[in-house]
Amino acid sequence: MVWLFLLFLLVSVSSADEDPFIGVNIGTALADMPSPTQVASLLKSQSIRHVRLYDADNAMLVALANTGIRVTVTVPNDELLGIGQSNSTAANWVSKHVLAHVPATNITAIAVGSEVLSSLPNAAPVIVSAMKFVHAALVAADLDSTIKVSTPLASSIILDSFPPSQAFFNRSWDSVTVPMLKFLQSTNSYLMLNVYPYYDYMQSNGVIPLDYALFRPLPPNKEAVDANTLLHYTNVFDAIVDAAYFAMAYLNFTNIPIKVLESGWPSKGDSSEPDATMDNANTYNSNLIRHVLNSTGTPKHPGVAVSTYIYELYNEDLRPGALSEKNWGLFDANGVPVYTLHLTGSGLVLANDTANETYCVAREGADAKMLQAALDWACGPGKVDCSALMQGQPCYDPDTVEAHATYAFDAYYHQMGMASGTCFFNGVAAITTTNPSHETCLFPGSGKNGTLFNGTSLAPSANSTTDSAAPCQSWRSINVALDAGMLMLLSITIFT
Ligand SMILES: *[C@@H]1O[C@H](CO)[C@@H](O)[C@H](O)[C@H]1NC(C)=O
Ligand SMILES: *[C@@H]1O[C@H](CO)[C@@H](O)[C@H](O)[C@H]1NC(C)=O
Ligand SMILES: *[C@@H]1O[C@H](CO)[C@@H](O)[C@H](O)[C@H]1NC(C)=O
Ligand SMILES: *[C@@H]1O[C@H](CO)[C@@H](O)[C@H](O)[C@H]1NC(C)=O
Ligand SMILES: *[C@@H]1O[C@H](CO)[C@@H](O)[C@H](O)[C@H]1NC(C)=O
Ligand SMILES: *[C@@H]1O[C@H](CO)[C@@H](O)[C@H](O)[C@H]1NC(C)=O
Ligand SMILES: *[C@@H]1O[C@H](CO)[C@@H](O)[C@H](O)[C@H]1NC(C)=O
Ligand SMILES: *[C@@H]1O[C@H](CO)[C@@H](O)[C@H](O)[C@H]1NC(C)=O
Ligand SMILES: *[C@@H]1O[C@H](CO)[C@@H](O)[C@H](O)[C@H]1NC(C)=O
Ligand SMILES: *[C@@H]1O[C@H](CO)[C@@H](O)[C@H](O)[C@H]1NC(C)=O
Repeated sequence: MVWLFLLFLLVSVSSADEDPFIGVNIGTALADMPSPTQVASLLKSQSIRHVRLYDADNAMLVALANTGIRVTVTVPNDELLGIGQSNSTAANWVSKHVLAHVPATNITAIAVGSEVLSSLPNAAPVIVSAMKFVHAALVAADLDSTIKVSTPLASSIILDSFPPSQAFFNRSWDSVTVPMLKFLQSTNSYLMLNVYPYYDYMQSNGVIPLDYALFRPLPPNKEAVDANTLLHYTNVFDAIVDAAYFAMAYLNFTNIPIKVLESGWPSKGDSSEPDATMDNANTYNSNLIRHVLNSTGTPKHPGVAVSTYIYELYNEDLRPGALSEKNWGLFDANGVPVYTLHLTGSGLVLANDTANETYCVAREGADAKMLQAALDWACGPGKVDCSALMQGQPCYDPDTVEAHATYAFDAYYHQMGMASGTCFFNGVAAITTTNPSHETCLFPGSGKNGTLFNGTSLAPSANSTTDSAAPCQSWRSINVALDAGMLMLLSITIFT
């Protein structure tokens, strides 16, 4: 028991010790696939230090040589049967695709297959032997301590995943999962997990709130609590990762770290995918990056890094299926960012928003009463200078609650230095990269002009309620009408 406990401590400490990283998956189903050299230079220009390939393409591995970039290569599913049935086929694969490239190319892991249990069940019986054969070839080359062997699992093989403490791997796969976990444990490897809150959200029929999937702040009463552990979950990503920890623990494996091999959000979809939007993709990936790099860990293992590879580098226009399938990328084929991540001030990698041009706007279709309440809050307790919204001022037209709320939200967001959580307003606000300025109504954050409305300070004052044309000025009376709970929510969510 003592030894087990010590071992657990050691492993936990070492995985917490490792600096968490964000990597990127590189799918290649593009009509205009950039050359390996172009891919490598995009990675370098964006300071992307970790990538996962879906194969072990020779030219790509050559292009990644001497870049310092860490590479996870993949044994494609269609080569799995051969490799799982013959140790010499496995040794040949390792020799040709790995030994030929190290150490110039820093290959750090081999993903044996991809979501085999869920997408290629007939190869499941050989997957563990394929992992063992690949590992044996690395041992023979004395590379087993620097190159880890694992296999990415779809989170769908974890059943009853909420509450996380009750999660378990689909028992029909016990004959595979148990020896697989033994292998990962005995080789000091890690579980590779694909985590897609987007699909969980889409399939939940409204049970999972969008904010919960997007790592947006939730009011405390909306946080999901695991009744068995009393752990609070503020986002779907953590809940899935913890479900995997618990599913392993259910089989008595408590010291295997997790890396998320794929996670992301599509920026575009067809009419049945209304939440595949640029803003949502940006919000998800920006928040994911912050969450991972901040070493927050999960509620079950706080502080333990869960390094993650974003799905994916490029939009893959050749992928079949729904429109969203083609739109998970951070870049188009020309290396132009699909959107600019909101990572200002965090000193982080990836498409830098040096222009700082993000805006906080009223969410499309938001409830008018909620918008009005949030607008009143911003122009009142939020201390936004709403003078530009008064009749005769540049942002009075269009005189709609949505337009005025957009102005006030954006001003508040910029006043707060665009800090995370300051574009929320109880869920009726959203961040965008489209400048909402129009005619002479210039929004805070547009261009380099900084404060656009110079200090005629018409901040709400005691005698301002006389002018009914300016919505900002009636905030006091509306606040009185708001129920206390609503006010609490507004202030909590805005100030956390
Ligand atoms: C390769 O990657 C490993 C793991 O991140 C790192 O420890 C090592 O220093 C890297 N080697 C080179 C030559 O960059
Ligand atoms: C394959 O396995 C056999 C039997 O265990 C062993 O003798 C042989 O050396 C292995 N070959 C390779 C290439 O690892
Ligand atoms: C568990 O896995 C089996 C075998 O793939 C599958 O038939 C079954 O539907 C899975 N169970 C659930 C609840 O997904
Ligand atoms: C896990 O360990 C407990 C206590 O040692 C044991 O009772 C249980 O059968 C084990 N479960 C599995 C799946 O091995
Ligand atoms: C990182 O985590 C700490 C502690 O949980 C928190 O105070 C801080 O705001 C976080 N930083 C970011 C950028 O999320
Ligand atoms: C990121 O910033 C650097 C220098 O600040 C610039 O050269 C590069 O073009 C920027 N990248 C993007 C995608 O904006
Ligand atoms: C972006 O905004 C932050 C905080 O508002 C500021 O510190 C930084 O200098 C800005 N960067 C640029 C390039 O304007
Ligand atoms: C910034 O101010 C200058 C003059 O002060 C003006 O010409 C320009 O249009 C403004 N830019 C923006 C984006 O508001
Ligand atoms: C503010 O507006 C007043 C009156 O329109 C003008 O005289 C003054 O120069 C402006 N101040 C700044 C800093 O632009
Ligand atoms: C408020 O009313 C007083 C007296 O009626 C007036 O002097 C003052 O200028 C008003 N303040 C504003 C901001 O309109």
